[in-house]
Amino acid sequence: MSFAVAIDGPAAAGKGTISKAVAAHFAFAHLDTGLLYRAVGRRTLNGTDPVAAAQDLTAEELAQGDLRTAEIAQAASKVAVIPEVRAALVDFQRAFARRAGGAVLDGRDIGTVICPKADVKLFVTASAEVRAERRFLELNAKGADVTRAQVLSDVQERDARDAERSTAPMKPAEDAILLDTSDLSIDEALAQAIEVIESMLPAT
Ligand code: DC
Repeated sequence: MSFAVAIDGPAAAGKGTISKAVAAHFAFAHLDTGLLYRAVGRRTLNGTDPVAAAQDLTAEELAQGDLRTAEIAQAASKVAVIPEVRAALVDFQRAFARRAGGAVLDGRDIGTVICPKADVKLFVTASAEVRAERRFLELNAKGADVTRAQVLSDVQERDARDAERSTAPMKPAEDAILLDTSDLSIDEALAQAIEVIESMLPAT
């Protein structure tokens, strides 16, 4: 059986946590597509051309080093604007979505561009303030030297760039189910996501 779950939404809305837990719950494979853009962004920090970086990106690179830094997040959002970068990453993502046994992909354009026929589409969101606070706590726990104000302005800058770009902008697919996690605990958000997916699974 191939069964694709598309989970999109802005930075720090909880889509990573939800995607990982959903994949574990249903024993589906999981691809955090943000890591692809982050790995390309990281390569550009030492001067590599972004299109060349996207064209010869390897799966191994996604697991090398810490890609979840504020600097790499901004670099990722910048390379993600380039249509040739996005095009170079499409086949890998679509092949992943077709895996036997089910797949969860999370990102910004999974339900709209990568898997427009996904079996389930969720758009996970939360207010910018709530998201910035979550990201602040996460970065702080890693010992990063950041302020709340900085993190909020980073989140807002990235939201604007991701939503306003002309190729594959971040937006909910027309048939996506919205999940606002502003006032939900992780467990509550996860329970709602699982309920939606369960209702769409083929009867066995
Ligand atoms: O989900 P993330 O924060 O790791 O994503 C990092 C950046 O990558 C994000 O700001 C925009 C870009 N991205 C994208 O354009 N399309 C995706 N499917 C995933 C991420």
